[in-house]
Amino acid sequence: MTSDPQIVVIGLGYVGLPLAVALANKFDVVGFDVNAERIAELEAGNDRTGEVSVDILQASSLALTLDTQSIQDRNIYIVTVPTPVDEDNVPDLSPVRAACKTVGSVLGKGAIVVFESTVYPGVTEDICGPALEEVSGLKCGEDFFLGYSPERINPGDTVHTVDKIIKVVAGQTPEIAQKLADMYGAVITAGTFIAANIKTAEAAKVIENAQRDINIAFVNEVAAIFHKLGISAHDVLEAARTKWNFLGFEPGLVGGHCIGVDPYYLAHRAKEVGHNPEVILAGRRINDSMGTFVADAIADKMEAGGLKGPVLMLGLTFKENVPDLRNTKVIDVVAGLKARGLDVDVHDAMADAAEARTFYDIDLISKIEDGKYACIIGAVPHDDYRTMTAGQIVAMTTPGGLIADIKGMWRKMELPAGYLRWQL
Ligand SMILES: NC(=O)c1ccc[n+]([C@@H]2O[C@H](COP(=O)([O-])OP(=O)(O)OC[C@H]3O[C@@H](n4cnc5c(N)ncnc54)[C@H](O)[C@@H]3O)[C@@H](O)[C@H]2O)c1
Repeated sequence: MTSDPQIVVIGLGYVGLPLAVALANKFDVVGFDVNAERIAELEAGNDRTGEVSVDILQASSLALTLDTQSIQDRNIYIVTVPTPVDEDNVPDLSPVRAACKTVGSVLGKGAIVVFESTVYPGVTEDICGPALEEVSGLKCGEDFFLGYSPERINPGDTVHTVDKIIKVVAGQTPEIAQKLADMYGAVITAGTFIAANIKTAEAAKVIENAQRDINIAFVNEVAAIFHKLGISAHDVLEAARTKWNFLGFEPGLVGGHCIGVDPYYLAHRAKEVGHNPEVILAGRRINDSMGTFVADAIADKMEAGGLKGPVLMLGLTFKENVPDLRNTKVIDVVAGLKARGLDVDVHDAMADAAEARTFYDIDLISKIEDGKYACIIGAVPHDDYRTMTAGQIVAMTTPGGLIADIKGMWRKMELPAGYLRWQL
């Protein structure tokens, strides 16, 4: 490799685009994606993920392409394609394999191929290396080299942006790791950490998310217990958190395509080597069941209060302040309420209405009718919902209606007498 990185970022989504733009501040970077619509919208300066602003995108020297010819013979390829699971929660590595085919077809001698997609330990060296060799005809570790650097961004988080999160890097050799640390270090102000080896870096990323999943599963389980005991989990956690070493997790729905998915990657590898990952899978089971639990708890409360009218769900995305609808668990709450015979309207100004229709068969409402709903559910704490006043919420509700708060975002709010409340 020459000392001058000529970088290609493969896959320009939530992870790839901000990274490519950051690297383009210092280096010659081409962003490649297979989705023509995505390239066209980025060329027009529009990042629908909301991660990169129009101004920054338009001012960036990042070149965009759909064409494999224009990514020939570069010296660094960074792969940031999706790593989902299939319907049986088994890792689906087809986007990673497809990216290896693309990179293999353009790979030249001396290049480094770095994977940033979240995978289980072994994918980079045992699956991607051979796949790249097969297409390129080059020898891994001699003609080209592998690297892994997990992406740790948190979409919608304007504080912990890609440049402000320590970048873990690993290379097939110590020299490759150092080259990658130098490259990332040029744009990541938080600095870099060289992991012991590629499998270690892959494992570090996957346990970061599995750890969050398990911790959230614990507070979800205690929330279910406290629900039966008639005490609020949020009140309990607020008290418990006054101890210095109590961990600050909140109960809730665990959706999206990271925390709810990555533990299955680790579990898959664990089973391959003959270990039954009990805690990891128990966490997944608990978190995956929360939507139904919440729906039943709210429907029970409505029944007990004699409320039969329609329900308004505020928020559909998998988390606050992002437009990302992938694997949102709010959908389980909607389905659970419908199964109990309730009519549910869903409002989410951040989400794309066409995507909601295509993926979930939900027609988002754009205008909220005053006084229509027997129950208002705060499902996703987008800023617009979190900052609603009691007056605004009550105005949407029929007299004596139920205000249900999945994320505890309105728990300090005073409501007029006569309204029912539910919170996780
Ligand atoms: N979104 C997050 O919060 C986050 C955070 C950390 C890590 N990750 C990991 O980063 C990876 C990417 O996630 P994302 O959220 O950016 O996904 P995404 O779906 O937003 O973006 C992926 C992009 O890759 C493109 N793509 C798919 N197959 C391709 C191929 N063969 N060649 C070129 N482009 C291709 C898609 O068109 C899309 O634009 C995943 O492994 C994910 O687990 C995601």
